[in-house]
Amino acid sequence: MPLKGEIRVPSDKSISHRSIMLSSLAKGKTKIKKFLFSEDTLHTILAFLRLGSNIKIFHRNKKISVKDVFSLLKINPISLEEESYIVVEGLDKNLKEPDDVLYLGNSGTTTRLLSGILAGKINYAVLTGDDSLRNRPMERVKIPLEKMGAKIFLRQNRLLPMTILGGNLKGISYKSKIASAQVKSCILLAGLFTQDKVEVIEPTKSRDHTERLLRFFEVDIEENPKIEDEKFIEAYKNRDINLYFSLINKIFSKENKVALKEDRELKGNKEIFIPADISSAAFFIVGALLIENSEILLKDLLLNPTRSGIIDVLLKMEANISFENVRILNGEIVGDLRVKYTPNLKPIKIEGSLIPRLIDEIPILSLLMLFANGKSIVKDAKELRVKESDRISLICSNLSQFGVNIEEFEDGFEIEGISKEKILKNIENKNIFIKTFLDHRIAMTFKILEKVLNKKFNFENEECIKTSFPSFNIYLDKHLED
Ligand code: S3P
Repeated sequence: MPLKGEIRVPSDKSISHRSIMLSSLAKGKTKIKKFLFSEDTLHTILAFLRLGSNIKIFHRNKKISVKDVFSLLKINPISLEEESYIVVEGLDKNLKEPDDVLYLGNSGTTTRLLSGILAGKINYAVLTGDDSLRNRPMERVKIPLEKMGAKIFLRQNRLLPMTILGGNLKGISYKSKIASAQVKSCILLAGLFTQDKVEVIEPTKSRDHTERLLRFFEVDIEENPKIEDEKFIEAYKNRDINLYFSLINKIFSKENKVALKEDRELKGNKEIFIPADISSAAFFIVGALLIENSEILLKDLLLNPTRSGIIDVLLKMEANISFENVRILNGEIVGDLRVKYTPNLKPIKIEGSLIPRLIDEIPILSLLMLFANGKSIVKDAKELRVKESDRISLICSNLSQFGVNIEEFEDGFEIEGISKEKILKNIENKNIFIKTFLDHRIAMTFKILEKVLNKKFNFENEECIKTSFPSFNIYLDKHLED
């Protein structure tokens, strides 16, 4: 069954989290349109409600509670996406101490960004989360926040629960060993609570939504290198692949330095419109490339170069894609992406500074590698081992059930391309069981493989998809043509 039609996947998760955090810290009212309602982002809302933020959610122009949102998520996630908005009355940074432990579910982004904000302002707070989150490394935020003067306590010195004793921070110039937007954002957000010099250096530029949104709220930020959006728009519009790759090489082949300047007040009275999430769209992009006769148009997609690593890969694999309607929306590059079925994809090597630009897409990209003409490889991606699950291990162990030639490395894997017919033969009379370890992106990857092979697998905890994309199965069924 081919994938067909126009799809506006739900909005970007990274920007949705940040929209709640920054509008809560701002002075004045912010209206957020096209917010992503998913379990992760609702944990951000719940945490900020406990910190005293005045967040009102409207559905069909009627105010609803977070509890209503959770039930709507079960019965009608599409209506929630299309017919809701949020209004936040900012606290001008005056958050109050939470009167209970903050439970953050599966959300690493909420935990790490929030830890910076709490360290900046709150005397005492405790953070925890689900089985997956409680096993993810947190010393990466503890180290810089302690250098800024906060006291941070972790289980085994690296895991949640985290206790934060914050306030009275001083400045920092922090050189991070990893290109992590969560670490960078944590420090920048903590830096909003001091007037000292605050600067972060990372080996290559990671996603820059915090910087863009802070600038949108009129905070002064210095960045080097800086992305020139107009040039990228020109490259997308003129289908100028050489220009696109030369801009990418210029920005991502060096260290990135971000500093807060003097003005650290967030000025509200703004309206934010959140574009569609390229990490969610990735599942449909790959589905359309691999299922015969497919053609889809993905609308309003976030094309920010710090997130467009998947576009680099598609261009290099010679996938049949084209851009339409590329423009700037709310300080972000947005466009529509047309994707057509492409047999004979070229194999690919994914490594170096490309990794942070597609880190969340690697599980689904493993399917493109699986059906490419030759050997593909992922390197320098050790960070994948500390995501919602150990993604290197789960990609390899789940795929090895299909009789695929796959080799696991400490920092990646290598896959030998294979035909659908061969895989179908390998799994004849076999029961496939997909382990997810509560990882939404692993679950969605193998849901797409089910459709590509027209087979059914058994899944462990398939509901974890709600972490980022509660309407995933609805869109998938709706756009698969009989
Ligand atoms: C995110 C940053 C990335 C990404 C995560 C979302 C963010 O993590 O994998 O899904 O919103 O800042 P790291 O910063 O740990 O690389």
